[in-house]
Amino acid sequence: MIDQTLLPGEIKQIECRDVSAVWEAIKMLRVRGAPAIGIAAAYGYVIGLQSANHQDEEQYFVAAGETVDYLASSRPTAVNLFWALNRMDQLCQSLRGEMGLAEITARMLEEAQAIHQEDREMCRAIGRFGADMLSDEVQGVLTHCNAGGLATAEYGTALSVLFTAQDLGNDLHVFVDETRPLLQGARLTAWELMQRGIQATLICDSMAAQVMKEGRIQAVITGADRIASNGDAANKIGTYSIAVLARAHGIPFYVAAPSSTFDLSLMSGDEIPIEERHPEEITHGFGRQTAPPGIQVYNPAFDVTPADLIDAIITEKGVIQPVNRNNIIKTLQVV
Ligand code: MRU
Repeated sequence: MIDQTLLPGEIKQIECRDVSAVWEAIKMLRVRGAPAIGIAAAYGYVIGLQSANHQDEEQYFVAAGETVDYLASSRPTAVNLFWALNRMDQLCQSLRGEMGLAEITARMLEEAQAIHQEDREMCRAIGRFGADMLSDEVQGVLTHCNAGGLATAEYGTALSVLFTAQDLGNDLHVFVDETRPLLQGARLTAWELMQRGIQATLICDSMAAQVMKEGRIQAVITGADRIASNGDAANKIGTYSIAVLARAHGIPFYVAAPSSTFDLSLMSGDEIPIEERHPEEITHGFGRQTAPPGIQVYNPAFDVTPADLIDAIITEKGVIQPVNRNNIIKTLQVV
């Protein structure tokens, strides 16, 4: 995987050859973004099986369970992590007694590759549905954090919409929130947009209201890390404020996410666990101390945007609009 902590300065691939390396890569945000975390965890599960004892069925399945628990402890908010681990483990358990352990391991590698490939396809479909929603009057679009190819298998969710719109000849100008404290917008989204030749302007998160007031933005689009059954959506910290600002300025706010980001077991966003990260991300941004020693810090990595501030959720199965439980269930075709 690309070590995203080094971007945009350095493009370096790292190899994860044991489960703890995958855990570390997820925890330290070398791989980040909800779908990409899920894909990494699926391959991590396979690495766990590959290093399990293939002579002893009991021990093999104990190792599988331990891999699930361990990888699941890396980050709490993006549900794609748990979705992928659950899908992998359910299939693996169902194959017990059906074939040899080496065959099961090989089958599980295929399953991880299927998750990877399906994510590519979901991103493309999200792009097509989303691009249809951006009318010709939309020129300026604001996005927050990074929901591009780096955060997914390939094309992205929110950025897939913008890439597809561009492919269809819609000349967009994308405003990119830098996304404090870890600057995924500045480091990753700005980089991805520039790679594709899309006009992009970087702003500090605190500038969004002013830029909206100046009439430069006609739509906001972000990704999501977990969406509850009522449509409340967790995404990178700062997304909620952007949604409030968008509503105050009469600008539509869209979320783009695959079905693997929905957690229909949750009635509302209040139940979404919010990751709290190390205070040094705020006091020592990229190594330099910028706050007095000993200051108290609160560093939630995500916030939840209430469904009523979201004008539509763009999924690979269609657009959910208005955002409510019925429409979510109908669009995702969950019985
Ligand atoms: O902490 P991160 O960088 O993993 O947070 C990522 C985000 O919040 C993304 O916007 C989200 O995962 C959508 S990715 C398609």
